[in-house]
Amino acid sequence: MEIFNTTIFKNKIVVVTGGTSGIGQAVSIAFAQKGAKVWALGLQTDKAVYPAGLDIETVEMDVTDKTAVDQFFSKLDRIDTLFNGAGMGSISEHELDTYRKVLEVNLTSVFYISEVAAKALAKSDNPSIINVSSLYANFGSAIAPAYSCSKGAIDQLTFSHALSFAEAKIRVNAVAPGWIDTPLIQPLKDIPEVFNGIMQRSPMSRLGKPEEVANVVLFLASDAASFINGTIVKVDGAYSIF
Ligand SMILES: NC(=O)c1ccc[n+]([C@@H]2O[C@H](COP(=O)([O-])OP(=O)(O)OC[C@H]3O[C@@H](n4cnc5c(N)ncnc54)[C@H](O)[C@@H]3O)[C@@H](O)[C@H]2O)c1
Repeated sequence: MEIFNTTIFKNKIVVVTGGTSGIGQAVSIAFAQKGAKVWALGLQTDKAVYPAGLDIETVEMDVTDKTAVDQFFSKLDRIDTLFNGAGMGSISEHELDTYRKVLEVNLTSVFYISEVAAKALAKSDNPSIINVSSLYANFGSAIAPAYSCSKGAIDQLTFSHALSFAEAKIRVNAVAPGWIDTPLIQPLKDIPEVFNGIMQRSPMSRLGKPEEVANVVLFLASDAASFINGTIVKVDGAYSIF
């Protein structure tokens, strides 16, 4: 079933961080299938596979590498959509170095990349930034304090950037996915009692698909969302209200 017209993003330039896996990969494919030129930034580009014939160019780039970020964005004159999808978690987030690393990847890089991309975004006729929040923006986490801090702060960064970029007409929103079937949650799927616990409290009794998040991202980037700004859209199958 076609949800969006196949040319809705024709001639649009889309930058996707974390475009090499999971949600970001699905977002890259979805935009390209609707006509966009997509720059998919991330790690392990050699392992990323996309359907043939799509205009997706991968760039191996650590989002915390300021020089690489500056160099990449200096090449782009106009950007229509920036999807800040790169993210990570760790089982050792109570260690200071790991705590700092998770915040650097999940939060600080989003701040910096958005600031750097703003000039090229301002040249679009419907520019927008879409960040990735989480259930953990509101839930605490005993094992992942850095991840939950980073996602709580992503909501606040989304609100703040929506205000600071409003004059340039750049809309800034976020999606807040629930449990989505990507490599990020494989370690949890590998522990049956943890995974069964997640399924038991999931009202829809299933994981979300990366494509289901991508569809919402496309809507937020489209002209249909032209007055949606500073909003966090939950894509969680009602997990957060159960
Ligand atoms: N999967 C879920 O259930 C879920 C739920 C809520 C939020 N999220 C968020 O969605 C986003 C995407 O996660 P995913 O589930 O697709 O995970 P994933 O592990 O499949 O993909 C993560 C992506 O981030 C990239 N990345 C990680 N560290 C990077 C770095 N230093 N520099 C550049 N790229 C880096 C990876 O290369 C990869 O492309 C993350 O922000 C994650 O926190 C995921």
